[in-house]
Amino acid sequence: MDKFFFDTSAPFADIDRVDGKAKVTGTAKYSAEYELADLVYGVLATSNITKGTITAIDTKSAEKAPGVLAVITHLNAPKVPGYDEGQNPTKGQNNGKGLRIFNDNIIYFNGQPIALVIADTFERATHAASLIKAQYNKEASHTDLTEAIKNDKPIEGDRYKENTRGTKDAWKSAPVQIDTTYTMPIQVHNPMELHATTVRWDGDDKVTVWDKTQGVVSTQRSVAEAFKIDPKNVQVNAQFVGGGFGSALRTWPHTIAAAMGAKKVGKPLKLVLTRPQMFMLVGYRPAAIQRMAIGADKDGRLIGMLHEASSMTSTYETFNEGVVAMTRQLYDCKNVNTKYNIYPLDVSTPTWMRGPGEATGSFPLECGMDELSYALNIDPIELRKRNYAETDPENGKPYSSKFLREAYDMGAEKFGWKNRKPQPRSMNEDGWLVGYGMSTGLFGASRGEAKVAAKLLPDGTLVLQSAVSDSGPGTATTMTQIASNLLGIPPAKIKFELGDSSFPPGPTQGGSTTTSTLGTTVHNACESLKKKLAGLLKTQESEVLPQDVQFGNGEMRLKNGNVITYADAIKAANLPAIEITEASGRNPEMQKYSAYSYSVHFVKVKVHPLTGVVRIDKVVSAADAGTIISPKTAASQMKGGVVGGIGGALMEEGVIDHRYGRWVNNNFADYHVPVHADVPDVEVVFVNKPDPILNPNGAKGMGEIALIGFAAAVANAVYHATGKRIRELPITPDKVL
Ligand code: MOS
Repeated sequence: MDKFFFDTSAPFADIDRVDGKAKVTGTAKYSAEYELADLVYGVLATSNITKGTITAIDTKSAEKAPGVLAVITHLNAPKVPGYDEGQNPTKGQNNGKGLRIFNDNIIYFNGQPIALVIADTFERATHAASLIKAQYNKEASHTDLTEAIKNDKPIEGDRYKENTRGTKDAWKSAPVQIDTTYTMPIQVHNPMELHATTVRWDGDDKVTVWDKTQGVVSTQRSVAEAFKIDPKNVQVNAQFVGGGFGSALRTWPHTIAAAMGAKKVGKPLKLVLTRPQMFMLVGYRPAAIQRMAIGADKDGRLIGMLHEASSMTSTYETFNEGVVAMTRQLYDCKNVNTKYNIYPLDVSTPTWMRGPGEATGSFPLECGMDELSYALNIDPIELRKRNYAETDPENGKPYSSKFLREAYDMGAEKFGWKNRKPQPRSMNEDGWLVGYGMSTGLFGASRGEAKVAAKLLPDGTLVLQSAVSDSGPGTATTMTQIASNLLGIPPAKIKFELGDSSFPPGPTQGGSTTTSTLGTTVHNACESLKKKLAGLLKTQESEVLPQDVQFGNGEMRLKNGNVITYADAIKAANLPAIEITEASGRNPEMQKYSAYSYSVHFVKVKVHPLTGVVRIDKVVSAADAGTIISPKTAASQMKGGVVGGIGGALMEEGVIDHRYGRWVNNNFADYHVPVHADVPDVEVVFVNKPDPILNPNGAKGMGEIALIGFAAAVANAVYHATGKRIRELPITPDKVL
């Protein structure tokens, strides 16, 4: 208890997740685990053609199957009034309406839902869905990005048009050059928890949705817009989310389908996607083919860079992300030209996936810097330091904070980088080739709007509420720690409640912004509570200001030495509680600054010279993410990024058979992700210095940088081990040999 006493500036304590016990004991409830009275089950039947139109659909045997209540197709679907506004594929995915499920007979991709079967049990619905038979007018489909680049006209990425800083193609005049092409396949989020929606209508215009979502408020808005009802009449619950990685950032058509189905049968309905459906119905990281050229002088100073990225979207929506952004930002280089082309294919729409944009762009950039380091015979870290951006190279603004140099040094020290022999294929252990590789990651740090309700009760406990969801980082824990440190209330006496749209609106959990955004609101709420508490001490003669009081250990200590607990102050004032609702937004001061979080990944690989197997032997990830508020969940966040990074580097590859446009490996037997045996004991190092401007807690963001750059560190280590440069992910044994 002592550590909370009056010491609100102490470093944040290393506490366990506040909801950890609920998660590991199975009492935490996820969106598919609400057993409502009279619940029915929805299962989607999907298209087995890739492009064309449905000419006939036979639902009779499904309708007659045992337990079936209804079958919804485009022929009988309840009207979704929000669909009337139409679709505009030229608008980004925020403005586009997405796939209008069961709206017409057009097939845009293989695996597109063509019917929702509703039955009294999941098994009966699954069986009946297998009886749906559709006839199609099939058209030739096109799903191959490589072919599209050769033959098709791209859509120019609207946020990242062709863009030149300084002189175009200046790299071509440099004495030392690299010019290479890097390829990344489709990667799929595949959080452990399947996407699921449970829906209950109360009348025609009031609905409750238990949904797997990273955005409680955004789901509320999307459902309200689809059915043209007041958002106040859409209750969204997402108390626990079993991983998202971006797949739950938007409201997908299956959620709308579940709401349609529940409306049609007049009963609450549960719809859980199958694992194969998770590959095409909730987005994925699009494949990318990227050219990276870098020119430097003989001392390794960058003269020019070129980054041309080609990626994919669906034919009904344009998805684009910051693939080339990191190349424009990371290094002090006067001449940079970038281009980002997107090709529409007969696939479902991709979406943000952990480290969106930068995770893709960092692969050629940070491998390219490694290639350059060998061309120059300069240590890879030294090369990066010679081109360190002291201010934002795009606009000259100072950084609100940047401790990337410290992250390089701390990580290198912890990893033992000095033991690396520069020559490729020069290190061995037990008959395996050994390689050391490193890379940098960056992602923008920002802060948005949020509201939090705070209630300090006469028993000395604090309840905080916000309509945010937690897809895994540990938001409730982090917010509890902020409040605990500011008020000196032990974490056990604080409850942070989330995942409920009736709470004041919180941010969508995405883009590594939750701690910055919501942490600011919680910080301000605690300061307001202090003011209110001090106000309770007001005597007839004088007002007590917060600065006259020391807050800690659940108590106020006055200058005269008197001590009164928060509880007693509230009781003495005869109040049921102190209640406030606090709002916070952007910091206008930030207009003068650029803000980024940084990671540096160090990887030691062992490569078997006969089989080409790559084992990740050691990982150190160092991060400049500002103040670390929750050391344990922060370290977990970084480790999770490494696990995802190992998958992306060595295993993950979404394969579509371009002859048919069908997924080949839409299951966990064939789409490989790391298991425990693939992951060494990952070490995490934090610079842990506050960002003094972004927000009052000094925290930046961490979710994205945990992954960004990691694949490059592995590829660089494999090159160091073998002398073979692999520019195509995943790095499988066939490519190594
Ligand atoms: Mo993340 S891709 O911002 O969920």
